[in-house]
Amino acid sequence: MKPISKVVTETPASGIRRFFDIVSQMHDVVSLGVGEPDFDTPWRVTEACIFSLERGRTHYTSNYGTIELRTAIAEYLRKAEGLEYNPENQILITVGVSEGMDIAMRAILNPGDEVIVPEPCFVAYKPCIAFAGGVPVPVCSYMEDGFAVKPEQIEAAITPKTKAIWISYPTNPTGGIASRETLEKIVQIAIKHDLYIVSDEIYDRLTYDGEHVCVPTLAGAYERTIYLNGFSKAYAMTGWRIGYACASPDIIEMMMKIHQYTMMCAPIMAQVAALEAIKNGYEDSESMIEQYAQRRRVITQGMNDAGLQCILPGGAFYVFPSIKNTGLSSDEFSEKLLFEEKVAVVPGNAFGECGEGHIRCSYATSIEKIQIAIERIGRFVNKLR
Ligand SMILES: Cc1ncc(COP(=O)(O)O)c(C=O)c1O
Repeated sequence: MKPISKVVTETPASGIRRFFDIVSQMHDVVSLGVGEPDFDTPWRVTEACIFSLERGRTHYTSNYGTIELRTAIAEYLRKAEGLEYNPENQILITVGVSEGMDIAMRAILNPGDEVIVPEPCFVAYKPCIAFAGGVPVPVCSYMEDGFAVKPEQIEAAITPKTKAIWISYPTNPTGGIASRETLEKIVQIAIKHDLYIVSDEIYDRLTYDGEHVCVPTLAGAYERTIYLNGFSKAYAMTGWRIGYACASPDIIEMMMKIHQYTMMCAPIMAQVAALEAIKNGYEDSESMIEQYAQRRRVITQGMNDAGLQCILPGGAFYVFPSIKNTGLSSDEFSEKLLFEEKVAVVPGNAFGECGEGHIRCSYATSIEKIQIAIERIGRFVNKLR
């Protein structure tokens, strides 16, 4: 047989998946591993989907997504961020933010184009770039900077081949947020070098300290930014698979072309559910966010008490403590912790080389489970001393 795709063969499977294949075989594991809300989707959202199915709404929608959902997203962004996107040609409903990331890369990249990606970052960014023929160029962000990338590092990574800067605040896996000043500087760099910005703001609502800074609202950013967002995190809707991309009409047209030939449209029943979420689900999501905020303090304090240096994250639902003082690598720490104390975390290096020396712990789980996990981690770290 002829060899299969080189780029796909060379891309490692997600470090998260490998680890959770092991976890699924074990009993009594307390998991701080999964990056999805432990809450059920608000009932009003599920019910809207059921009603719509009962009325026989099971057909294709416009390739762009239903005009009702696009209009509701446009209204939401106008109110929440003061952003103006035309629902007719500047908003595309995608199959999760995951699809938005993929088609954004395929729409803008030519073979060999480079995309600068602050790390540690969500596991899919670099593969998305590579699958689109591009070259990911990671730049490291550090705990002492609250895991916000330094604009100077971005500028230093620019070459004649650079096409885009990919940012995502609040960040998975660190929970880091970036200040308005930092983001403004990044936008200025993009303008200076005529680069696109891809801004994945899926955790925007889960910002606990101060305001969320929405990148396309910054001076000069709107025209060059592909803004990605979705329903998975803020509305506990991971399985519904609905996201959206907003950008200039020409970019959205290109993204739509790929979406049209590969997905056709996002599932209609999930679009109906998302419409209910964005129109009437704000309070439901606020109550989940309040609980994450409370858990954030408990887990951060707990990690520090357990002997792992951990900063209070500004957003998302992850902490990213350092395990450097244990002398173990991220993989060793995570595996030993799993087998000896039955706590599942994700090794930090799954999110890029500079995540080495850290573990990602999700607090999208109950306070009771967080407390049990912390007790076990404390015992484990003590044994290592
Ligand atoms: C930063 C980030 N972006 C995108 C996604 C994918 O989201 P979706 O479920 O909308 O595809 C995730 C999921 O964990 C994420 O953490």
